[in-house]
Amino acid sequence: MKFFIDTANLAQIKEANDLGILDGVTTNPSLMAKEGIKGHDAIMQHYKTICEMVDGPVSAEVFGTEFAGIVEEGKKLAAIHKNIVVKVPMIKDGIKAIKWFSDNGIPTNCTLVFSAGQAILAAKAGATYVSPFIGRIDDSSWDGVQVIEQIVSIYNAQGFMTEVLAASIRSPLHIVRCAEAGADICTCPLSSILGLLKHPLTDLGLKQFLDDAKSMQ
Ligand code: E4P
Repeated sequence: MKFFIDTANLAQIKEANDLGILDGVTTNPSLMAKEGIKGHDAIMQHYKTICEMVDGPVSAEVFGTEFAGIVEEGKKLAAIHKNIVVKVPMIKDGIKAIKWFSDNGIPTNCTLVFSAGQAILAAKAGATYVSPFIGRIDDSSWDGVQVIEQIVSIYNAQGFMTEVLAASIRSPLHIVRCAEAGADICTCPLSSILGLLKHPLTDLGLKQFLDDAKSMQ
């Protein structure tokens, strides 16, 4: 399973990238706004900076909701850097635009996916990635990981090439369960990635080893 970081914060992207385990980045308008980025040029520059930091796919989301606008925006985003993936919402015009991007060799990430049916449509349109939001599914008292399992099983049965990108990750356990469910990628906040490091027996064991090492010096 590949690891993407789900943020537009440059310090967090650098910290995850420095670990050597980062395969890509996802952003969305909320994550970009959180960084205080304002205006067209600043937005484009920020995506460029991220692409220069991480050698992997960087999802940049369109703001429009109608076909022609999505295509225009997507073409401009894709021109920023070869690693840009155009992130398109799961709406009727979004599906049409994903098909257009797919026919024109521009990679896409179909976002705001909450069901297997939506994931089938995204794959049929030729999306490179599909992003089921598992944390938000959990928030509405459904099981987000179960949706991942269902999509993975359908994609395998049907031979769809779209990669399952588990999004809206809220905890290290989500990452473990998505790996178990066969997700191709998990896009995670830095805290969930770092949470994978934690185990009290590691801390206790290391303390013992360090104490014993000291006693031998
Ligand atoms: C990433 O592609 C999604 O936009 C993101 O994971 C959504 O996460 P949230 O539900 O924590 O906002």
